[in-house]
Amino acid sequence: MSEQPNPLRDIGDRRLPRMSGPCALVLFGVTGDLARKKVLPAIYDLANRGLLSPAFGLVGFARRDWRADHFAEMVAESVKAHARTPFRDDVWQQLLEGIRFVPGELDDDEAFERLVATLAELDEAQGTGGNHAFYLSIPPAAFDIATDQLRRHGLAGHGRGQGQGWSRVVIEKPFGHDLASAQELERKVSAAFDPQSVFRIDHYLGKETVQNMLAFRFANQLFEPIWNRTYIDHVQITMAEDIGIAGRAGYYDGIGAARDVIQNHLLQLVALTAMEEPTSFDADQLHAEKLKVLAATRPAADLSLGTAHGQYLAAWAGGQQVVGYLEEEGIPADSRTETYAAIRVDIDNRRWAGVPFYLRAAKRMPRRVTEVALILRPAPHLPFLQSDVTNLGVNALVMRIQPDEGITLRFGAKVPATQMEVRDVSMDFAYGTSFAESSPEAYERLILDVLLGDPPLFPRHEEVEASWRILDPVLDHWAESAEPPQGYPAGSWGPASGHEMLARDGRTWRRP
Ligand code: BG6
Repeated sequence: MSEQPNPLRDIGDRRLPRMSGPCALVLFGVTGDLARKKVLPAIYDLANRGLLSPAFGLVGFARRDWRADHFAEMVAESVKAHARTPFRDDVWQQLLEGIRFVPGELDDDEAFERLVATLAELDEAQGTGGNHAFYLSIPPAAFDIATDQLRRHGLAGHGRGQGQGWSRVVIEKPFGHDLASAQELERKVSAAFDPQSVFRIDHYLGKETVQNMLAFRFANQLFEPIWNRTYIDHVQITMAEDIGIAGRAGYYDGIGAARDVIQNHLLQLVALTAMEEPTSFDADQLHAEKLKVLAATRPAADLSLGTAHGQYLAAWAGGQQVVGYLEEEGIPADSRTETYAAIRVDIDNRRWAGVPFYLRAAKRMPRRVTEVALILRPAPHLPFLQSDVTNLGVNALVMRIQPDEGITLRFGAKVPATQMEVRDVSMDFAYGTSFAESSPEAYERLILDVLLGDPPLFPRHEEVEASWRILDPVLDHWAESAEPPQGYPAGSWGPASGHEMLARDGRTWRRP
């Protein structure tokens, strides 16, 4: 048999995680939630798994009157509270040797000079080799000044000479708040860094279950034949959270569910579900396929029929009384920010024409669950008595992104008895029972990939633009609409308008 090309080759290569080379990571915004709960613990977990070079440095930069030992204390606290792997003193001591802190404001030239000197000292003491990753865990409004300062002080890619080591920048979503602002942001970042040195984090792409969508689709023969309009009736992508805005009023208000997670996480899930097979999992090939499918994706022509938005109201949820969005601290009483967003998109290509993708994302739902569900068409003919199939639904294939990670196939089976009664049953694959290894946190994988310079899991600017092109008309429609977001009780599955949106198409939302 001739050897077949293997598109999973690259994934296979990554099975044995590679250790980062010598480098320093500079973290801006060290005291923020993201840094404390995700980034710092992930750095420790990488060190604990032996994936950071012994020549690794961690530099905190913040507006605090701290010394390096204050910063180290804060890092230790956040690691102890949030790391996935156990705290080990030898790992910590090794990490500690490379920890530095630079106090200062982003617009303070002297602070940046101190940063230059600190990095030079680290290169000397730790052997970090002039390789620097700058992680901007700061509000997007500050990206501009931070990248400009890095450029002016010779730390950004464009400002560095040959042989000075690499310089990369990591930015977190939101990548702008609409297409125009995303383009503006891109202009600013690219004034300081080459495109291949900019790593945009969409942490969903770092999740094992999201990467498994590629394995599931392209390593198997079983599913590809049904992965199209002939067999699939529609697709539902749900990202439900049971929490409210969790004290993040300053970030969330004015942003809302669509900008917060649909523009990035959910549209990336659409792209991975709907794209064609890439010729390899190289960044270029993956990007080309994702971009193609995003460019063919459009919201409903009549946005009043193909979208719904809502805001949670005070109610009993999860066994406690919770406040409504408008009563959350820091939220203006007349805010129209949506905490529930549902959008129908269609993909204009041969594979998906006529197959709606329904996306919904919300806070204060009954439970935390993210899933991609492909709902199949009903069987064309049922040779049963109507009374035998009253408990038979349609077949569904559900990729459970989190929690309870796995895949479910729902189909009809005969109930054991003398008569022929057919009822829905499920066949389950669960990570927890199939694999002994626990999944690394998304941030571990993504930070390691930044340090390795391995870009497939980072969306490129063109994908960001394509996503805003899909979302901008929806956001404009909501902004111009006389209808404010419709209330829904906290702990429910969203406003009536969300259910009506599907009912109009003769469908219903799944209750995951
Ligand atoms: C972030 C959003 O990107 O994802 C948050 O800004 C949200 O609002 C979070 O809570 C959810 O992430 P995860 O990994 O828990 O699904």
